[in-house]
Amino acid sequence: MLKLAVLASGRGSNLQALIDAIRMGELDAGIAGVFSDKAASGALAIARGAGVAAMHIDPKAYASRAAFDAALFAAVDASGAELIVCAGFMRILSPEVVAPRTSRMINIHPSLLPKYPGLHTHQRALDAGDREHGASVHAVIPALDAGPLIAQTRIAIEPGDSPERLAARLLPREHRLLVQVVRWIAEGRLRFDAQAVHFDERRLSEPLRVG
Ligand code: GAR
Repeated sequence: MLKLAVLASGRGSNLQALIDAIRMGELDAGIAGVFSDKAASGALAIARGAGVAAMHIDPKAYASRAAFDAALFAAVDASGAELIVCAGFMRILSPEVVAPRTSRMINIHPSLLPKYPGLHTHQRALDAGDREHGASVHAVIPALDAGPLIAQTRIAIEPGDSPERLAARLLPREHRLLVQVVRWIAEGRLRFDAQAVHFDERRLSEPLRVG
């Protein structure tokens, strides 16, 4: 069974989707720990409610980003996690902790990367007049939101979409996307590193599509 560490700063709906899929027997994985930089995050509350180890690591308790990151990943490593899932983790991680883990850390991002790395992705897609929007799961490398793309989900932008409406319509698709990618990894069908993604032993030339 694949052991996961989930890093989350906010609401925790992607964490909830993983927990639900595991409970329903749809994902053969276990959550070794949930780690958050925000004491009040919904993700920590969800973890505690589900009987999953939950740890708040306070950036203000550390003198530097590097010291915080070292403490965070010491805790992640101690959990025994094999795959690290960034699910709404809103801090930039230092290269020292990312580089040794590029083949076992993924991030979900609410845009069709390489479009719109960073923040305010829904607003930026609307401002650009895009007809399509979506979410991506990618391998984490030191550069922000830039690792090899693993899979994407796409939705049409509709007249009347606001950033909030677009985000709300996308969210259930994000959940399916993240669960599917973790399932493929758990099944041994998907592997990746800082350079490439392989699915069923074939190197991907474009991200997988999840409906
Ligand atoms: C999700 O929309 C995720 O794609 C996004 O944060 C949200 C977390 O929601 N991630 C990023 O913006 C990362 N740059 P959740 O806390 O309900 O899972």
